[in-house]
Amino acid sequence: MKVISTVQEMVQASRQAERPLGLVPTMGYLHEGHMALVRRARQENRTVVTSIFVNPLQFGPQEDLATYPRDTERDLRLLRDARVDVAFLPNAEEMYPPGFCTFVDVQGVTSRLEGERRPGHFRGVTTVVTKLIAIVRPDRSYFGQKDGQQVVVVKRLTLDLNLGTEIVIVPTVREADGLALSSRNAYLSEQERRAAPVLHRSLCRAREVWEQGQRDAEALREEMRGVIAQEPLAHLGYVSVADAGTLEELRRLDRLAMVSLAVRIGKTWLIDNIVLDGGEKEP
Ligand code: PAF
Repeated sequence: MKVISTVQEMVQASRQAERPLGLVPTMGYLHEGHMALVRRARQENRTVVTSIFVNPLQFGPQEDLATYPRDTERDLRLLRDARVDVAFLPNAEEMYPPGFCTFVDVQGVTSRLEGERRPGHFRGVTTVVTKLIAIVRPDRSYFGQKDGQQVVVVKRLTLDLNLGTEIVIVPTVREADGLALSSRNAYLSEQERRAAPVLHRSLCRAREVWEQGQRDAEALREEMRGVIAQEPLAHLGYVSVADAGTLEELRRLDRLAMVSLAVRIGKTWLIDNIVLDGGEKEP
């Protein structure tokens, strides 16, 4: 595996790479969720590039940029074992050199949910994703369904700007008790970790009532709030039952819907989602 830290070298490597080329963008501290993306990319491409870059642009001033978990040595070991061809590890200076002043802003779908809770977050995500795609020129780019709104935003971005990469979405990987894997789970104390599966329980409850035929979106939101209220350590940010394409809140579940929520446990914000697709269960 080649480890590359400069944009110039990455552009060169991409030009010479065997195609198709799959890109797995990450912020490191890799877990099984990331590795599911890497494995899928490995199955589908001749060349696999994984980027590790803790993108300062997508963190708000009160957020956890300084303490975001990092373990580059372990990450590189995991990527080598998964037969990744190139690990791209630029630093912030390399990605945002002095004078940098161009930003990518997807409107509409970024104004709700996480966009409302984390102003500027998606502008940071879409700017870095656009740069990574411009540098690596992937045929396919891999994202996890765990960050459901990010998936919607990135699909919109690549469509609107004709970025020429296929967006491949990989199902959320969960712990045995349902907690979606996330690098931020590392922040949870033992007691908080025991409380954290409440997000998944609340999504399961929404799916259950939906399977029983409930099509009133507010009834699903109410069920979800009820489950969260039973966990004393959980503080609800939002619950949402929204159109899976536009993320506009629904009154009736009459189309593909993303059911999502954000919950704070201690100091840690956790998010999760499922897609209800008109009869089928989520994988
Ligand atoms: O999902 C993430 O880890 C990040 O938002 C991404 C896509 C790597 C951009 O920094």
